[in-house]
Amino acid sequence: MTTPAPAPETLNKVLWSIPNVLCLIGSRSGDEWNGMTQSWVTQVAMEPVLVAVSIDVKAVTNRLIKESGSFSINLWDRADTRPFVKFSKPATKEGMTLNGRPVREGWTGVPIFEEAVVWMECSVWQTIDCGTHDLFIGEIIDAAFRDDVEDPLVARMEDTRMKYGGVKRGGH
Ligand SMILES: Cc1cc2nc3c(=O)[nH]c(=O)nc-3n(C[C@H](O)[C@H](O)[C@H](O)COP(=O)(O)O)c2cc1C
Repeated sequence: MTTPAPAPETLNKVLWSIPNVLCLIGSRSGDEWNGMTQSWVTQVAMEPVLVAVSIDVKAVTNRLIKESGSFSINLWDRADTRPFVKFSKPATKEGMTLNGRPVREGWTGVPIFEEAVVWMECSVWQTIDCGTHDLFIGEIIDAAFRDDVEDPLVARMEDTRMKYGGVKRGGH
C-alpha cells in the first residue's frame, strides 16, 4: 500500500489548526534557572494525574528538566501575551526574577511565576524520546490558581500571531 505524503505546506496548515495553550515552562538545575515559551501541553492520564510537555532536545529547558527531574507549567493571562516573545530564548535571572518576571521556588526548587494565573509543579514520571523533541510526562505534585484569580482566561496561541510546530525547518 502506498500512503499519501501530504505536502509540507499542507501538513503545516493542518498541524497549526490544532488549538494550543501558550504558557511558560519553569526549569532549574542548581544555579541555572530558565523560563521558556511552550505550546505543546496536555493532560495524558487521570490516575495518576499526568500532564505532558514536548520539549526540543536542543533547548536549555530540556537539559535542565533532565538534570533536575522536575518542571513547572505556568498558564498566563490572556490579556498579556508579551512575555512569550522574550521567553523564546534563554531567560536572564536577576534576583528572584526571570526576564524581569518575579518567580518563587516550588517544592522541587523549580521556578514558579508569581504572575501565572494557574500553575502546576511536576515531577518527571516518564520521558519519551520523540526525535526532535522529548515528551516529558509529569506527575502533578502541587498546583493552584493565583490568589486574586478564580476563573481565569488563559493565553492561547490564537491570541498572538505566533506559530509553532508543523514540519521541521532549518533549526527546528
Ligand atoms: C509561540 C511559541 C511556542 C513554542 N512552543 C514550544 C513547544 O511547545 N516546545 C518546544 O520545545 N519549544 C517551543 N517553542 C520554542 C522555544 O520557546 C524556544 O526554542 C526556546 O528558545 C527554547 O528555550 P530554551 O533554550 O531557553 O530552553 C515555542 C516558541 C514560540 C515562539
